[in-house]
Amino acid sequence: MTKLLVLNGPNLNLLGRREPELYGHRSYAELCDLIRAHAAESGIDVEIIQTNHEGVLVDRIQEAQGVYDGIVLNPAAYTHTSVALLDALLAVGIPAVEVHLTDPAAREPFRAVSYVRAACAATIVGRGFDGYLEAMDLLQAMAKKRA
Ligand code: DQA
Repeated sequence: MTKLLVLNGPNLNLLGRREPELYGHRSYAELCDLIRAHAAESGIDVEIIQTNHEGVLVDRIQEAQGVYDGIVLNPAAYTHTSVALLDALLAVGIPAVEVHLTDPAAREPFRAVSYVRAACAATIVGRGFDGYLEAMDLLQAMAKKRA
């Protein structure tokens, strides 16, 4: 069974209430339910974490080594600021897919930069909740290829 870690950064816990015109009306709990249902259908063992703290994301990436086959990562605002997250991904070398609900490059100019992208096998933007499921499929296919 493919083991995946889904890591969500700051303010994603507020989905549904947070700028619904951008992020939609569905809640974070609904996102987690969707991810768990897709994992069950696809034979994926999934753990989902949300934190508002950059250091916790770094800790979880470090602790993922040897445990998970892949990481689905939406670093939220830390995407555009965090060299620490990039370094953590490079350090552990676990295949990662960067996911964004919106397309950050189509928003304010400061969102065009992604530090983590350089350490990710793929980036999925602007697909809403489905982007997470696509990232899971991609990481599962990559894990099966390596097996
Ligand atoms: C986001 C895009 C980021 O720019 C923003 O800071 C977020 C969410 C997205 O999923 O579209 O918090 O990562």
